[in-house]
Amino acid sequence: MPYFISLCVYFLIVLNPVMTNTITEDIDVLVFLPQNNSYLFSHARVAPAIRYAQKRLKADGGQYSGFNFNIQFENSDCFYDAFFTLADLSCGQKPDLILGPVCEYEAAVVVRLASHWNIPVISAGALAAGFQNKNKEYSHLTRIAPSYVKMAETFSAMFEHFTWKSALLIFEDDREQRNCYFTVEGVYHLMSNYDIKTHIVTEEKPMNFDELFQVMDDTEGHIFSSIYPVQG
Ligand SMILES: *[C@@H]1O[C@H](CO)[C@@H](O)[C@H](O)[C@H]1NC(C)=O
Repeated sequence: MPYFISLCVYFLIVLNPVMTNTITEDIDVLVFLPQNNSYLFSHARVAPAIRYAQKRLKADGGQYSGFNFNIQFENSDCFYDAFFTLADLSCGQKPDLILGPVCEYEAAVVVRLASHWNIPVISAGALAAGFQNKNKEYSHLTRIAPSYVKMAETFSAMFEHFTWKSALLIFEDDREQRNCYFTVEGVYHLMSNYDIKTHIVTEEKPMNFDELFQVMDDTEGHIFSSIYPVQG
């Protein structure tokens, strides 16, 4: 009997590639993209790519062509829209897969809830160091862009190569989306064994070059700056 069972299992494994062709399954996909076109990852820019992928998967008659990806687009305002939408929609039928959101704070709450409900999330954002926690809070997150800590590895390698010991990090903190803060945080996070100082520029306290040069004199550091407008 055990022999027979293992034989059956063997046949199932052998037949599997053939059988998957015939599997049909509905997969509800919830996609969070901003309607606001000032974001690089706005609905107008990204939705056509998702539609294209959906069409190609169906058309190629391959292994996954039996899956019906039912795609529902919802707005992401980079604050709370995505979170409330996910909570409201999930009172009915929970989605099987979530794409986005991209913005850090919005992604954090959505991914926490989705991970609690065992719903996978794929995001082109959520790049901050905190999302590395795959044990619990962000267990169901897959990031498809290099994270800020990944970027920091480049700096770490440079510092090692040139035997630099200290750095001055200059960044603008908009206190909203805080992309510059999170970018620099990746470096800070990874290079904690270096002598690192920070210089923060805000709207109320704009760049003062005299002060900056003084800080540079004091630290003799190697400068890494991250000052750019929020979500270009
Ligand atoms: C779109 O986003 C930009 C950048 O965050 C913001 O300044 C602008 O007010 C937004 N526009 C609308 C209509 O919400």
